[in-house]
Amino acid sequence: MNHRTTTHRRRVLAGGAIALAAALTLAGCGDDSGPKAAKKPEIKVSGAFVPEPTMDDMAAGFLTLDNAGAADKLTSATSDIAGDVTLHSSKNGTMKEEKSFDVPADGELEFTRGGNHLMLEKLKRKPKQGEKVALTLHFQKSDPITIEVPVKEATYNPKQQGGSAHGSHKSH
Ligand code: CU
Repeated sequence: MNHRTTTHRRRVLAGGAIALAAALTLAGCGDDSGPKAAKKPEIKVSGAFVPEPTMDDMAAGFLTLDNAGAADKLTSATSDIAGDVTLHSSKNGTMKEEKSFDVPADGELEFTRGGNHLMLEKLKRKPKQGEKVALTLHFQKSDPITIEVPVKEATYNPKQQGGSAHGSHKSH
């Protein structure tokens, strides 16, 4: 009698575990389908450019990150032509190196002249207008994104927000 009861209970437990595993599997599949599902960051890069630098050892990079998903962070960048790439913010004419930039959920992060920018430092070669340079963006959650960035003329500024702000880079 005792023995049968125990066996019965075991069977129930085993059945429960299978049902639970099935439910987890279904939940996992659901993540990819539903529109409101399970947010991962979905980041796209647009409008990237590097103005041909006036200095030999340093160039700036600008781009826009559009995020159609959950919040993420841009944590670093690398380039084939630069020994180092740093992230800078610029507010009221004061430039500051940042460890990371938030890429807001369903939002965008802009790097524009006079504002946030990437600094390609310790240049291995000076990029010339018409060339492309490789830039890889690293995120807290998303996989790295590598883009080919066109080198534009030194004064190129698609947003027309005071192109001279970058003159202050001679100080660092
Ligand atoms: Cu800077």
